[in-house]
Amino acid sequence: MLLGLFWLFFVVAGFGKCHATNISYDGRSLIIDGKHQLLFSGSIHYPRSLPEMWSSLIKKAKQGGIDVIDTYVFWNLHESQQGQIENEYERIEGAFEDNSGSRYVHWAADFAVGLKTGVPWIMCSQTDAPDPLINTCNGFRCGEKFGGPNSPDKPSMWTENWTGLYGEEPFVRSAEEIAFSVAEFIAKKQGSYVNYYMYHGGTNFGRTAAARIITSYYDQAPLDEYGFTRQPLWGHLKELHAVVKLCTQPLLFGSYEYSDLGEDKEAHVFKGESGECAAFLINNDNTTTSAKVHFQNSSFHLPPMSISILPDCKNVAFNTAKVTTQQDTRSMSVKHKFDSSESWEEFREPIPTFSNTSLKAQELLGHMTTTNNTSDYLWYTVSYQHDSDAKARLLYAISESHVLHLFVNGTYIGYAHGGKKWFKLEEKVHLNKGTNEIALLSVMVGFPDSGAFLERKTLGIINVTIQSQMLNNYKWGYQVGLTGESLSIFTKHGSKKVEWTSFQGKGPRLTQFDAPEGKDPLALNLGSMGKGEVWVNGQSIGRYWVSLHTPQNRPSQTWYNVPRGFLKSKGNLLVILEEEYGDPVKITLDTVSISN
Ligand SMILES: *[C@@H]1O[C@H](CO)[C@@H](O)[C@H](O)[C@H]1NC(C)=O
Ligand SMILES: *[C@@H]1O[C@H](CO)[C@@H](O)[C@H](O)[C@H]1NC(C)=O
Ligand SMILES: *[C@@H]1O[C@H](CO)[C@@H](O)[C@H](O)[C@H]1NC(C)=O
Ligand SMILES: *[C@@H]1O[C@H](CO)[C@@H](O)[C@H](O)[C@H]1NC(C)=O
Ligand SMILES: *[C@@H]1O[C@H](CO)[C@@H](O)[C@H](O)[C@H]1NC(C)=O
Ligand SMILES: *[C@@H]1O[C@H](CO)[C@@H](O)[C@H](O)[C@H]1NC(C)=O
Ligand SMILES: *[C@@H]1O[C@H](CO)[C@@H](O)[C@H](O)[C@H]1NC(C)=O
Ligand SMILES: *[C@@H]1O[C@H](CO)[C@@H](O)[C@H](O)[C@H]1NC(C)=O
Ligand SMILES: *[C@@H]1O[C@H](CO)[C@@H](O)[C@H](O)[C@H]1NC(C)=O
Repeated sequence: MLLGLFWLFFVVAGFGKCHATNISYDGRSLIIDGKHQLLFSGSIHYPRSLPEMWSSLIKKAKQGGIDVIDTYVFWNLHESQQGQIENEYERIEGAFEDNSGSRYVHWAADFAVGLKTGVPWIMCSQTDAPDPLINTCNGFRCGEKFGGPNSPDKPSMWTENWTGLYGEEPFVRSAEEIAFSVAEFIAKKQGSYVNYYMYHGGTNFGRTAAARIITSYYDQAPLDEYGFTRQPLWGHLKELHAVVKLCTQPLLFGSYEYSDLGEDKEAHVFKGESGECAAFLINNDNTTTSAKVHFQNSSFHLPPMSISILPDCKNVAFNTAKVTTQQDTRSMSVKHKFDSSESWEEFREPIPTFSNTSLKAQELLGHMTTTNNTSDYLWYTVSYQHDSDAKARLLYAISESHVLHLFVNGTYIGYAHGGKKWFKLEEKVHLNKGTNEIALLSVMVGFPDSGAFLERKTLGIINVTIQSQMLNNYKWGYQVGLTGESLSIFTKHGSKKVEWTSFQGKGPRLTQFDAPEGKDPLALNLGSMGKGEVWVNGQSIGRYWVSLHTPQNRPSQTWYNVPRGFLKSKGNLLVILEEEYGDPVKITLDTVSISN
């Protein structure tokens, strides 16, 4: 994931062939070619799926009642060298003195507006977004939390909410709960633009994911990672969109009234000049079974924690808690097993010694600064002179990266991993008298993607101690990246540059397979593996970290998307870089399908 910069709108539905020429706004809504619009928008990020999937994703979004496709502009793809506009800056700007954070926000706003793109700009979660930029809400329940537009001339817009990391359970919001939040935002905040972040999450291929973010990017969205509609979520939201659209006139042009219907019950009523009327009846009470309320001389039953929408103020057309869409089940069926160890070959990554390394420094260098993101891996090596007869020694290292593997004299000792701050690797090591080669492999599972002073972050190992002797100021030798990476052994050409041996245990693995017939999407079940990265025909399908479990004791992600667009019909090259002791013989290639 990369920093998003505000927003670009791509209007997909209802406005002809994307020739929207004049987009502006007022206090009620966005205005497209002179017409006020109530818009449902869905985030679909173009690098997170293959181009051949885009038209079907957009079609399904349109069928689901989505008017706008929202996308980040992926700066890493368009401008690989520095030059990056900020997103969600408000929570960071306070870290800068002399108001320079705020001055920067104004500079960015002027810069954006100066580009004269012809579309309005927004700033997410920026309460004081400078005019004419629209401050929008990013959050979980914007109907509750949003303080509203910072000027009466700006519409009320909700742009993002999402989470999901290695070691955490997927963040699931029910169809009822999302529908409630959306209807609440429209009713209470007179929202006229709601974006689903994400509508289709897709896949973080290669090393594109940010720090500890999983390869599958919000598979829980209305369109799942493989592009299937996720039911009942997709269908329930489609109904919601259709019913809200029936209320467009009074919502966009009517007057707004709030009335109290008793404890935790509210009516939000919108009345148009020619008698149009739309009502949102809210029951915020989640304790009772159902509540009876009186509204305009009729009584209505409201299920707990629900909103009834009455497009004519008389008849309930939709209730957020009543899901009529049938649930779907996604299933994986094994199409190919990689279960003979003869089908695998292995290359053992050489463990560098201090003398092997060309980059030396009398200090512990930072991981980010030293690799400059050319690899997730950085070797730290040191020659350690041990003059005592005592063999067992306590070695500990403190690191701010994500994983640290320790080797002494070429032997693997162990590893430790951490998360948001520093972590400690502590091992009892047996040292021989004389020179010992210590090698520490520091691993980052993506870089941090937000926060103040990102450019000053170095991360990596910060302290190394052997039996209370600090090694920080020893002469260290560094190797950026793995030998296998620099030789591109995951490509057909590169794989010929090294000697592959029969499969034994640890190191990158290589095998070949034919594409399963049909058109069903494909996924590799990596449940037997530890941590690493996978390439298919030289294309990285992403990092995996199956050995790190959630509090519910399971991997955050077991299946990894293999787009058919990466495959040939026969002889596909599969290369896996495994850092731990995963068992590739248990890997399977599965088809993904949906059934009611
Ligand atoms: C665009 O639309 C707005 C509002 O409808 C209007 O004020 C403005 O003049 C239009 N601009 C152009 C270039 O047509
Ligand atoms: C989503 O909402 C939750 C709960 O309010 C919040 O912790 C999280 O930061 C939000 N995420 C975004 C991207 O706004
Ligand atoms: C790091 O490099 C990868 C692979 O080139 C790229 O996808 C990612 O966006 C880069 N990350 C940063 C923070 O530059
Ligand atoms: C009901 O709402 C209260 C207050 O918001 C919350 O603490 C509680 O978890 C909710 N219970 C359920 C079953 O959603
Ligand atoms: C409700 O009933 C009262 C008394 O019969 C009547 O005056 C009023 O107009 C009715 N309101 C609506 C919205 O029908
Ligand atoms: C690293 O150096 C050792 C001697 O210290 C040598 O045996 C080994 O071949 C070297 N490895 C590489 C990859 O250069
Ligand atoms: C880091 O990489 C970028 C290209 O991605 C390059 O422009 C820059 O010079 C590199 N910085 C260093 C210190 O090597
Ligand atoms: C440790 O390993 C290095 C190189 O791998 C070797 O030169 C050295 O003799 C070893 N030290 C001892 C004490 O075995
Ligand atoms: C690293 O070592 C320094 C110097 O001994 C010490 O002050 C610091 O607390 C250590 N850091 C951690 C995280 O242990």
